Amino acid sequence: MDKLVIRGGHRLSGSINASGSKNSSLPIIAATLLAGDGTFTLHNIPDLRDITTFTQLLNYLGTETAFSDNTLQISSQNLKSLQAPYELVKKMRASIYVLGPMLARFGHARVSLPGGCAFGPRPIDLHLMAMEKLGATITIETGFIDASVKGGKLRGGDIHFPLSSVGATGNALMAAVLAEGKTTISNAAAEPEIETLCKFLIAMGSTIRGTGTTELEIEGAKSLNAIDFRNVFDRIEAGTLLAAAAITGGEITVNGVEPEQMKSVLKKFVQAGCIVETTLNSISLKSHGKLTPTDVTAKPYPSFPTDMQAQWIALMTQADGTSHITDKVYHERFNHIPELNRLGAHIEIRKNQAIVHGPQLLSGTKVMSTDLRASASLVLAGLVAKGTSEVLRVYHLDRGYEKIETKLNTLGADISREKYNEF
Ligand code: UD1
Repeated sequence: MDKLVIRGGHRLSGSINASGSKNSSLPIIAATLLAGDGTFTLHNIPDLRDITTFTQLLNYLGTETAFSDNTLQISSQNLKSLQAPYELVKKMRASIYVLGPMLARFGHARVSLPGGCAFGPRPIDLHLMAMEKLGATITIETGFIDASVKGGKLRGGDIHFPLSSVGATGNALMAAVLAEGKTTISNAAAEPEIETLCKFLIAMGSTIRGTGTTELEIEGAKSLNAIDFRNVFDRIEAGTLLAAAAITGGEITVNGVEPEQMKSVLKKFVQAGCIVETTLNSISLKSHGKLTPTDVTAKPYPSFPTDMQAQWIALMTQADGTSHITDKVYHERFNHIPELNRLGAHIEIRKNQAIVHGPQLLSGTKVMSTDLRASASLVLAGLVAKGTSEVLRVYHLDRGYEKIETKLNTLGADISREKYNEF
């Protein structure tokens, strides 16, 4: 297994390019299943473990893929299976994204139930409800979701989500674009990744109104086309890099971003005492090393993202006072806290809120990654900790951060990747 060995105490400076977004790549790749002919060329796809896992799933279904230099070519002309097996689905919950497009194109899909998750229950009831609203019959047997539609064709319907779900909105969209007639989706997720999916589907020939809002209206098309498409930047990676600058009292510029999509996070960096400047496609952050305690509440977009919550907690360990970080999306997403405390932080958990008492001098030790963003928070803490920190089980981090240690080292960090054996 790999671990990251971080020698802390280096101030980050310089500029770096953001990678393509993982969370928009996944639904886009799934949406390629909707086109019967042609080859898609997807640009700016990050080279990540989650992308490899997802393309393996599509390959299993019969899709042909070729990936190099962040460009993915993909064609789904000759699918040979409509079943997503447990062995592949269990590796990544986002595998559920194949349900909507397969059902819409073939009238049938079988997808293994995704299992639990490191930070609490993650149900899929809203995905299934959306498919049923479009005329599907769903049965769950022997660990599989079996979805089919009489006559082979979904029909437009009215879908209302009682709570905002990125994945369920994506699945509903991918099903509705090939359904007969009009579909409405209310209380849809408005995350930039869903906006990107809408743009992708529109470029394939779909009619979607309300892109970027919580109310979507879709007119089903008879067929959709393969296209060339450039994926958006990863706003969570960009936010994590900015947090790395902030925690080390550094000064960096992240290029290739759309600051508009990161307003809630940038506002918090400013409240925390950082100087933030933006252009149309770059964000510069300067920190003098003195941070003001700043509360955040993670909620659906455009609020502060749950995927930045763990990194914010790491940052606030260095703020001069107490901050409250609440997660209203995933109430139990706090696996990073015991590990941050092992580095010397003083953080309490009360229900879905972390109370961070800063500033604390962190000192390097071995810590364990438990999930993707938890790992990112440990790396941030390692950057400021005295001495050497080792972040174990770094495969969690590799799911979602492209060449993270190379990027941080370019900015002046001292991180090496080493092999180790777990007893
Ligand atoms: C996506 C992101 C993930 C991010 C999350 C919230 C991807 C691949 N992953 O995950 O990084 O943390 O959005 O921004 O894009 N829920 C239900 N029933 C459902 C579906 C969801 O109750 O059928 C609940 C969840 O438990 C959670 C909330 O809805 O409390 C939001 O989850 P959702 O937006 O669906 O997350 P994902 O799409 O899985």
